[in-house]
Amino acid sequence: MKFISPLLCAAALAAAAPEPLPPEMQLAALPARAPEPADNPATPAKIALGRLLFFDPILSATKTVACATCHHPEHGWTDGRAVPVGTDLTLLTRNAPSLLNVGFNGLVAGVKLDPRDAPMFFDNRVQSLEAQVLVPLRMREEMRGEVCAEADALPQAVARVNAIATYREQFRAVFAEDATAQNLPRALAAFERSLVTPETAFDRFIRGDTSALNAEQQRGLKVFQDAGCTHCHGGPMLSDYKPHFIGLADRIVLRTPTLRQLRHTAPYMHDGSVRTIRDTLIFYEALSDAVSETLDGGDTTLQPPLDPLLRHLDLRADDFPALEAFLDTLSTDYDRSVPANVPSGLQVAGAR
Ligand code: HEC
Ligand code: HEC
Repeated sequence: MKFISPLLCAAALAAAAPEPLPPEMQLAALPARAPEPADNPATPAKIALGRLLFFDPILSATKTVACATCHHPEHGWTDGRAVPVGTDLTLLTRNAPSLLNVGFNGLVAGVKLDPRDAPMFFDNRVQSLEAQVLVPLRMREEMRGEVCAEADALPQAVARVNAIATYREQFRAVFAEDATAQNLPRALAAFERSLVTPETAFDRFIRGDTSALNAEQQRGLKVFQDAGCTHCHGGPMLSDYKPHFIGLADRIVLRTPTLRQLRHTAPYMHDGSVRTIRDTLIFYEALSDAVSETLDGGDTTLQPPLDPLLRHLDLRADDFPALEAFLDTLSTDYDRSVPANVPSGLQVAGAR
């Protein structure tokens, strides 16, 4: 904006008459519990079983990688790396997302979330936590390695689990049968749904406790809304769960990530290329200068184009401290417990 004359500027603004914030992007508090599918109600015993499986490298064909290798409580249920290291020591292409509040994926304000439709991955390519489990188990780079064919990864994982008496007993107690290709993902999903943080200062503020945010944090909340962030980072999860292109170098359209628990989940963006929260704000400040030029008359041949909702973006460096103070109210302490050991006797959370 700062390079265009006031007249042009007014014209550009008129052309970009701001759409009002859609109702599902109104800021809202998180419910206390993530919704669960009718065929997979959580019980304490099921969650405890899912927790053991999550930390146990027995699920990987290589017996070295657990879910917790890449989603570890010490790093906000991600791995603290830009991208994870795969089974053959090559790098994966995407940053491991935090699993905190993952049971709320897809939740927007005023709309009931069906957990069978909950979107998973940066490109929303899989629906539901139960279905998601199969992806890392089968992927060579994540948990299969060179040990078996893709089609054998799940049946072999189930067989390894059933070879351990403690697991067989627990599966029988929870599901009235041994581990199967259906109930093993259900136990893991029930555990993942238990990783929630609905008691942040932000949630208490939205529920009516006006003292939950101090003056600086409340100013930051206003900056967050006025700077246009809520057009994508709105609703109870601070995400619309829709795909957008916001100008990162590899030009792919990916869904808006949640901004909950950011304090614990650095580095940021799908490729982990941004190291700190301050650096994400510097990125958006530069973007808000560039966006009107690019959207109105810049090089329009580049694909995909910048997301039109970025027209709402208006962020200044002066606002960074207040905005950071607000973003911090979306994080709170969370479940950091790690089992002392796992039934396989292998190294808890993997050997890498
Ligand atoms: C080698 C590292 C690695 C391992 C092991 C791993 N994950 Fe992930 N996980 C990732 C990465 C990277 C992504 C994002 C991939 C993408 O979006 O394409 C991801 C995405 C997810 C998501 C989607 C989160 C969201 O918000 O969309 C869930 C849920 C998940 N993993 C659970 C698990 C479970 C359960 C296991 C064990 C069965 C597991 N992961 C094992 C790295 C890993
Ligand atoms: C047009 C939609 C849109 C708008 C507007 C928008 N964002 Fe984003 N935001 C995204 C998308 C999409 C990503 C993920 C991009 C990627 O990884 O390639 C993202 C990523 C982020 C991240 C990194 C989160 C993480 O865990 O990696 C932060 C922090 C962030 N945005 C804050 C903001 C702030 C603050 C504003 C307002 C100044 C804002 N965003 C405006 C869509 C948007």
